Amino acid sequence: MTTTHNDVPRTRRLGRAPAADDLSSAERMGTDELRALQLERLQWTLRHAYDNVPFYRRKFDEAGVHPDDCRQLSDLAKFPFTTKHDLRDNYPDGMFAVPRSRVRRIHASSGTTGTPTVVGYTQEDLDTWATVVARSIRAAGGRPGDTVHVAYGYGLFTGGLGAHYGAEKLGCTVIPASGGMTARQVQLITDLRPEIIMVTPSYMLTLLDEFERQGIDPRDTSLRIGIFGAEPWTERMRREIEERADLDAVDIYGLSEVMGPGVAQECVETKDGLHIWEDHFYPEVIDPLDENVLGDGETGELVFTSLTKQAMPIIRYRTRDLTALRPGTARPAFRRMDKVTGRSDDMIILRGVNVFPTQIEEIVLGTDGLSPHFQLRLSRKDRMDHLTVVVEAAVDTPADRRDTAAAEIAARVKDGVGVSVGVEIVDPETLERSVGKLKRVIDQRPAT
Ligand code: DLL
Repeated sequence: MTTTHNDVPRTRRLGRAPAADDLSSAERMGTDELRALQLERLQWTLRHAYDNVPFYRRKFDEAGVHPDDCRQLSDLAKFPFTTKHDLRDNYPDGMFAVPRSRVRRIHASSGTTGTPTVVGYTQEDLDTWATVVARSIRAAGGRPGDTVHVAYGYGLFTGGLGAHYGAEKLGCTVIPASGGMTARQVQLITDLRPEIIMVTPSYMLTLLDEFERQGIDPRDTSLRIGIFGAEPWTERMRREIEERADLDAVDIYGLSEVMGPGVAQECVETKDGLHIWEDHFYPEVIDPLDENVLGDGETGELVFTSLTKQAMPIIRYRTRDLTALRPGTARPAFRRMDKVTGRSDDMIILRGVNVFPTQIEEIVLGTDGLSPHFQLRLSRKDRMDHLTVVVEAAVDTPADRRDTAAAEIAARVKDGVGVSVGVEIVDPETLERSVGKLKRVIDQRPAT
C-alpha cells in the first residue's frame, strides 16, 4: 500500500484490462477473419505499390514477380525486400505512391548517411496511425479522460506527434511537453497531474533522478502508466522504473518507415511482449544472412509490410531489429514480438536519436587535419548514455588544429545528426586494431 501526496491510500497498480466492449471490433477479430483481411489488404498494397512507385515496379519486374502472384499470405516471401538504402536512393519522395497534393504530413529519421529517410502520410494514413496509437494507449491501461504527458520529441521524429494524435483520438488530454528541460517536465507533471507518461525509458530515468533531486518522491506523483519505447530497454529497467515511480511500465515499438510509434504495443495486464497491430502491419522474421523466413518462436530480423498505407506503402522492409514472433495472448489474434534488444547492423540509439557510424564517418572525412580512422565509444554517466568520437589525427597535424577539428566535428554532429557528442583527437596509429581492423563501435556501458 502506498499513499499519494493527497494521502489517499492506493494499492500498487496491476494494470487494467479493457472491458471487451471497449475494444475496437478489429481488436476482437478471430484469427481466420484477420488472416482473410490481411490477404485482401496485402494484395491491394502490392498492386498499389507496383502501379504507383517506379522503384517497386522495377524491383518486382527484376525479381520476376507480379502482384497477381500473391494468392496466399506466404506468397509474400517471393517478393523482394526493401532497405533503408532504397529509401535513401529514392530521396526525398521517390517512394511516395500518391501525388504530393494528397500528402498531409512528412516525417523523417536519420539515414545511414547524412541523407534522412523521408516518409509521407495521407489524411487516411494519419487517421490509421492515430487509431493504432489510441489502441496502444488503451492496451497500456489508458482510458478516455486520462491526461497524457508526451515527452517524446516533437518535430520530424515521429515520437511526439504520433503519441499526441493517438492520445487525442482515445479521448485523452495531452500535455505536449516534447523532450528536454527536465526541471520543467517535473513541474508540469507535479502541477498538471497526468496519469500517463510517454517517453524514452532512458529519459524516464533522468526524470526520476530530477524528481528525487527536487525532494519529490516519484511514487507520490499522479503517474500510473509509463509507455516507453523508441530505444531498447530491459526487464531490469522495467522493474526499476516500476518500483521507483509506482507505475505500470509497458513497451511501445515502431519505426518511421512503417508508420511511427504504435506498430506494436505491450498489454498492461500481461506484460509479455508486444502485440503487433497486424491488421495494418504484416510481420515476418527472417534469417538476416540467408534471408529465409523463420517460423514463430525463432529469433531473427523483423520485416514489415504495410497493409493499408496509401502515401508510402512499404513492402518487406528490413527493420534490422532482432526479435521473435509468438502467438497472441491478451489480443489472441494478434501475434506478439519479443522485446527488441539488438539489431543486425551497428546503428546506435543515443537518447532516442538513431545514429549511424556512416554519418559520423562522412563528417570525419570532411574535416581537415584528421585521418579517416575513428572509433565510437559509448559510455554511461549519471544514467545517461554518452557518445565519444575518437579520431586519429593525420600525421603532422599541429596541436591547435587538433583542437579546432574536435570542435568542428562536435558542432557538425550536433547540427547534422542532432545529438551532442564528445570528441577526442588522438595520435596517428594509436587506436587498437584487431587483425588490422578497427572496431567501429565500442560499448562501455554497464549492462542494465
Ligand atoms: O523510434 C518510433 C517510436 C517513437 C517508437 C516513440 C516508440 C516510441 P525511428 O526513429 O524510425 O522511430 O526509430 C526506429 O527505433 O527500428 C528500433 O531499432 C528502435 N525502437 C523503437 N521502439 C523500440 C522499442 C521511432 N520499444 C527504431 N524497443 C527501430 C527497442 C525500439 N527498440
